[in-house]
Amino acid sequence: MDHLSGSVSKNLMSIIIKTAAEIEKMRVAGKLTAEVLEMIAEYVVPGVTTNELNQICHDYIVDVQKAIPAPLNYRGFPKSICTSVNQQVCHGIPSDKKLKAGDIVNVDITVIKDGYHGDSSKMFAVGTVSQYAQRLMSVTREAMFLGIEQVKPGCTLGDIGHAIQTHAENNRYSVVQEYCGHGIGKSFHEDPQVLHYGKPNTGVRLEAGMIITIEPMLNMGKRHVKVLGDAWTVITKDRSLSAQWEHTVLVTPTGYDILTLRQEEL
Ligand code: MF3
Ligand code: CO
Ligand code: CO
Repeated sequence: MDHLSGSVSKNLMSIIIKTAAEIEKMRVAGKLTAEVLEMIAEYVVPGVTTNELNQICHDYIVDVQKAIPAPLNYRGFPKSICTSVNQQVCHGIPSDKKLKAGDIVNVDITVIKDGYHGDSSKMFAVGTVSQYAQRLMSVTREAMFLGIEQVKPGCTLGDIGHAIQTHAENNRYSVVQEYCGHGIGKSFHEDPQVLHYGKPNTGVRLEAGMIITIEPMLNMGKRHVKVLGDAWTVITKDRSLSAQWEHTVLVTPTGYDILTLRQEEL
């Protein structure tokens, strides 16, 4: 098995069904992850650098939460969070470049607490953004929730991907195919791979006790992406804007439970 930070690869499946005790730990990790995204919101303003956002999140996770920022040194990633701005699709590396009014930025937080991971991301508008950027962010968030709403025992990963892809394409956006959601638990990236496109009633069937992330990336232009020379930052090939939202989701006996839900989403 080889999950390169959520990139799509072929592999034999071994999906871990979490015990009640593990689910409790995943709830704690998920809540901490949500709290980092709540905490950072007020700092995402014109003039802040993504390195400053990285430092604030790092200190909060380490000093306040007594937890570990999973991205730091993960397969060589150099920072504690991912910040992906405008045409950056995912895995953006925080830098000394300032955010400016009109930018859209994804902040992706992964916290390890007591050995278990929570993983969630959201888009922020920096100052006032264009209506088309706002629409891309909103539709991407809706797509994530339409995917999440599919989740229950017996549903397939294809059902999730199809719901997301249909909403994206109905709004004339494209879905990135090279990166995907994933199982999550003691490891950052576990089986299965959760594609954000697909056909109903195909692929792995979900069972209660599985925990997955759903994290669609939608582009205003074509779906194609490339990785920059820093070996991490993924951008759209056509330089069109991209947006992503992510939650960690538990499959329950009757449906789903979002482990990284924020107050603003209740
Ligand atoms: N948080 C990302 C995900 O949702 C993975 C980031 S890998 C890193 O799967 F190394 F860039 F942090
Ligand atoms: Co993830
Ligand atoms: Co993430």
